[in-house]
Amino acid sequence: MSAQLIDGKAIAQKVREEVAAQVAKRSAAGKRQPTLATVLVGDRPDSAAYVASKGKACAELGMGSISQHLPADATQEQVESLVRQLNADPKVSGILVQLPMPAHINEERVLALISIEKDVDGFSPLNIGRLAQKGREPLFVPCTPYGCIYLLEQAGVKIEGANAVVLGRSNIVGMPAALLLISRNATVTVCHSRTRDMAAVVRQADILIAAIGKTEMVRGDWIKPGAAVIDVGINSVPDATKKSGHRLVGDVNFEEAKEVAGFITPVPGGVGPMTIAMLMKNTLRAAEIQEP
Ligand code: GUN
Repeated sequence: MSAQLIDGKAIAQKVREEVAAQVAKRSAAGKRQPTLATVLVGDRPDSAAYVASKGKACAELGMGSISQHLPADATQEQVESLVRQLNADPKVSGILVQLPMPAHINEERVLALISIEKDVDGFSPLNIGRLAQKGREPLFVPCTPYGCIYLLEQAGVKIEGANAVVLGRSNIVGMPAALLLISRNATVTVCHSRTRDMAAVVRQADILIAAIGKTEMVRGDWIKPGAAVIDVGINSVPDATKKSGHRLVGDVNFEEAKEVAGFITPVPGGVGPMTIAMLMKNTLRAAEIQEP
């Protein structure tokens, strides 16, 4: 293996310890406990698991959490009314509406309703709009892309002037990751399902962020020697040697890529743990904005 492994688990742990220390400091100063409100609509088991792990992280870091669950047949008005209530609740520092919501809910309208000071996911159009514009600062950066950039910075990878390629243009990862890289002065190309000769584009990348949701699509011979590879993919593949019968792999073929890349994140233990760590950091920031 030639690549240096970027240990997301260890870096996330360090972020969590820093957040916990700040939370304790605020509490000692008599300030209100930073509190995250999560909104889950429906019964998707993956979403329920994500929301539960966010609540658990809050408890571990000394933060409060409020978990709101609406049934799958909740109306648009019920979801919006819940968000309005959380916006108005002074105990709530941050609001996270778990995505995806059931198809009959207009996600755009719900996200637009979240108060910008409580938008710890960074998905409200105001935060994304600020991220997209020069000289404007979002109050919050979406957690997974924020984690990707944080990993690059911690590994000492120079972003300014680098050719960065982002695979995927989702609202949650690809698009905000591209905007963040531009704001850090990288030259950015975004690849997606209609891109011609993706391998040739990826071969130009000094920095690759793969968030396209295709099992081990990026092969070793796509990687520019020495490149930094951040793998956001979480794909389950059958594995008879595991008790669960499956294992998780990324969007990058790790065994091949690690021989060529300069830096690489593993799956699991790379980007995954960073998402919640950055959410905790954003929730602390929300509390600091609301009560300096
Ligand atoms: N669904 C998948 N990732 C995310 C995330 O980061 N935030 C929310 N709210 N929903 C998600």
